[in-house]
Amino acid sequence: MNNIWDKVAKPYNNISNISAAHQEKFDFVSNFVIANRATSLLDLGCGSGLLEKSLIRKGFSGEITALDSSKMMLEIARLGCIRNSVNFLFFNLNQLSRLQGAFESCVAINSLFLVEQKKETLMQINRLLLSKGFLILIEPTFGDHSMPFFINQLKKEKFGLLRKFFSKSLIDVLRVAISQRGISNMIKKKEITLPTKAEWMDYLKGGRFEIISEGSIQLDENYYIIARKTL
Ligand SMILES: C[S@@+](CC[C@H](N)C(=O)[O-])C[C@H]1O[C@@H](n2cnc3c(N)ncnc32)[C@H](O)[C@@H]1O
Repeated sequence: MNNIWDKVAKPYNNISNISAAHQEKFDFVSNFVIANRATSLLDLGCGSGLLEKSLIRKGFSGEITALDSSKMMLEIARLGCIRNSVNFLFFNLNQLSRLQGAFESCVAINSLFLVEQKKETLMQINRLLLSKGFLILIEPTFGDHSMPFFINQLKKEKFGLLRKFFSKSLIDVLRVAISQRGISNMIKKKEITLPTKAEWMDYLKGGRFEIISEGSIQLDENYYIIARKTL
């Protein structure tokens, strides 16, 4: 699994950096974290550090612990975000029981569907959160969204950006699409279990969380659930 993310780290980072829909998603999370005055944040599966960049751009000054198990993703993240308050760590999310700490908020963007034991992971997140702490969970819908995504991207981007998007990024788009297909195949073969939004909400409610809000994001490619620790 890690090799997939190492290979795709650069194109994934390039596309997310110039896609307005991706940026809106990171800004949505940053705005929520900042509005709730969190001073400590745990980012599970931080990838190339795009959320961290968005948070810093918006003036977040709290401590961030950002975990990922792809060395390439972490390398890009560390280069793009040099701050004492941001700690990027090589860490396997399947071993969350080994992590110590107490955080006001926790974010997982397109990473929790990749862990082996979903409910156990939510229990560990609950343990790591302070009282009334928030979990912002974003997960992929994995429908056939490629065409609608590009059409929306066309409508959304300004002309200059659009030219940049297609001229510079076509190979990146193809590389990411190939890796997404690889993951879709793993889901089909049941090597990865992909809970639905309703299932995640049930797991959360059973795992001592209350649901605060939920909805669709990134042009329906993703959905989000914001939950608060009850106990
Ligand atoms: C789809 S990317 C999302 C990255 C980032 N959250 C973002 O939205 O840009 C999934 C990330 O989860 C990481 N990942 C996958 N399995 C993991 C595991 N078991 N432990 C830690 N990170 C993992 C990958 O390395 C990758 O960076």
